[in-house]
Amino acid sequence: MNSKEYFFNEVIKEAVEGSSNKSIKVLEIGCGTASYVPTMIDKYPNLEYVGIEPITNSFKKAEKNVGDVPRATVSSQLGYESIEGLEDASFDVVISFSVLEHVKQLGKFMEFSSRYVKKGGIMVHRYDLGHALYPWSLKERLHVFLGNTIPKVLPERKFVRYVSLSEVVDYYERFLGTSPDRYTYHQMRSHKALEKKLGDDVKIDPSRVMTGLYRWEFENAAVFAKLPLPVREQLFPTVAVWGRK
Ligand SMILES: C[S@@+](CC[C@H](N)C(=O)[O-])C[C@H]1O[C@@H](n2cnc3c(N)ncnc32)[C@H](O)[C@@H]1O
Repeated sequence: MNSKEYFFNEVIKEAVEGSSNKSIKVLEIGCGTASYVPTMIDKYPNLEYVGIEPITNSFKKAEKNVGDVPRATVSSQLGYESIEGLEDASFDVVISFSVLEHVKQLGKFMEFSSRYVKKGGIMVHRYDLGHALYPWSLKERLHVFLGNTIPKVLPERKFVRYVSLSEVVDYYERFLGTSPDRYTYHQMRSHKALEKKLGDDVKIDPSRVMTGLYRWEFENAAVFAKLPLPVREQLFPTVAVWGRK
């Protein structure tokens, strides 16, 4: 189980708590290749999954990954316009992973994602400040600089910038109609590097080693919340904002 799968399990636990429904409907915006979806569908017999993904190559892979999977569909589009065939306020969970920092029109995206959360459902956006806080290359640094200062020069599909927590909170209040009720902090650089090494170099199933660290992130979120924001962001570049409609 990788960090994203562990996180998804936590989201499902939270969604089940607040729902009287047997089935849990999840909308993922910017699902990439949806590679973790078959495992999750297998694990949760009551899960229904809809993913949307605007980048053609990723979408094609996602289509392949969920092709034979029951109760899972993906479609190709940006997270701004209505999704054909879907009703507003019809999902128990609306989620994204590492997407907010790539969204060019974040207000429109947050309005779109809030629309699909049903009353009592949850919206969780887990985003990643790694590009902005410690870019790997000059190109990435330049991209982030342009995204932060002259966003219009970057195309939708190549967009990246720093996203401030206060901006995200403001969108929750404006569009979901309530303040976030929980924050969790993830992917300390050393943990992420360790996970990669275990998988790529050492040929150990990283989940055997890493699960304790994923749990530790959740168990200590309230402690990390007390750190000053710039310190916390440096330590935990991935932030998840949780809110219930
Ligand atoms: C770093 S990838 C993450 C993909 C996937 N969620 C994952 O965790 O592997 C960023 C994703 O954001 C998506 N994205 C960027 N802007 C978007 C938008 N306006 N609407 C929907 N998805 C968007 C991209 O298509 C891309 O798949």
